[in-house]
Amino acid sequence: MFEAISEAPPDAILGLLEAYRQDPNPEKINLSVGVYQDEEGRTPVMRSVKAAEEQIWKSESTKSYLGIAGAPEYASVVQEMLLQGGVSKSLRSRLVTVQTPGGTGALRVAADFLSQHFPQSRVWLSTPTWPNHPTIFSAAGLEVLTYPYFEAEKHALDWSGMAAALETTRPGDVVVLHGCCHNPTGVDLAPEQWRQVAEILDKTGAMPLLDFAYQGFGEGLVEDAAGLRELMNRELDMLVASSFSKNFGLYRDRVGALSALCSTAEAGSAVLSQIKRAIRANYSNPPAHGALIVSTVFQDETLRGEWEQEVAEIRQRLNGVREMFAQALEAEGIERDFSHIRRQRGMFSFSGLEPNHIAALREKYSIYMVGSGRINVAGINRQNIGPLCRAIKEVLAEPTGR
Ligand code: LMR
Repeated sequence: MFEAISEAPPDAILGLLEAYRQDPNPEKINLSVGVYQDEEGRTPVMRSVKAAEEQIWKSESTKSYLGIAGAPEYASVVQEMLLQGGVSKSLRSRLVTVQTPGGTGALRVAADFLSQHFPQSRVWLSTPTWPNHPTIFSAAGLEVLTYPYFEAEKHALDWSGMAAALETTRPGDVVVLHGCCHNPTGVDLAPEQWRQVAEILDKTGAMPLLDFAYQGFGEGLVEDAAGLRELMNRELDMLVASSFSKNFGLYRDRVGALSALCSTAEAGSAVLSQIKRAIRANYSNPPAHGALIVSTVFQDETLRGEWEQEVAEIRQRLNGVREMFAQALEAEGIERDFSHIRRQRGMFSFSGLEPNHIAALREKYSIYMVGSGRINVAGINRQNIGPLCRAIKEVLAEPTGR
């Protein structure tokens, strides 16, 4: 049977990480996968996480299964994280949350749930979006459509294109929105645009699915949830796939959640029961360790304060690197305008570099970035910024179509 299987192409993001790890060039630079790196190029375990793990190691008394939906205290923590900053308290009884293996796990559970109960759903994704989005929804058998999001020439949101496309959605459709720090563009909706998105979806009957993987990396933990609050306070049915991979640095521990806001508590209970069925048929019940870390940090005032401080430090570094990168490109005397790098938010910068530049950077300089031109700005530091900007200058000067 297996002889008929042909080789799959490498994953658009994780495949690059594999290639980077195999590259013997000591000067190589990794700007690909969305993993935070500090000034020394390390991805350290956060201080608050280490301290929580020590507590857990001392107190954990069993490794027996969690329930299908995960730990109830973790679900409360997730809700607290999402709802901080002014969401109507009355929503809480209608919001149900399950623990999932990462944000990707949450998206896949959402996709399975939708495909089972709303097989006619069309899932709308921004152009561009995270390359795994279409893969996840198509794998669950759902039709995938796209809405304009980004105007490449202006390096800015294509708001009129986006709004016009959302106007054509219909009841049963699902619109995937990036809660903050849009991946890959780093360009987010303004508060007024969130309000208008909520209004449009309220009118057309389409449901928002918020992919919320970078809370705290844009403007702040509370500020980054402004779009979520706008949608929730509008009382729309909605799904939220959230993740602690980035803001707790728990990438390999796979810590995420799927939340559903329903119009009644009864609907919430029914939806939860069906989501649990989808989970049982997939991975049965979630891994415990990462979620326990998150709950432990949240429940300990000192650790929580420390964690908030660490998230702020990451955010400040990301914004500082943006400025340093834009300045260094200017200082190289590159004619092309890269000032948009300063305006983007989160871990990514959509550089505007074309496929031939990206290929040349990788082949000649071992500089790895995603094929769309997405750069993980956390991979830039004081040591590699010089070689990086010089390499960009050189590939830009090459004739196109190499
Ligand atoms: C990314 O976009 O690089 C991250 O979300 C990691 C991944 O799973 O693709």
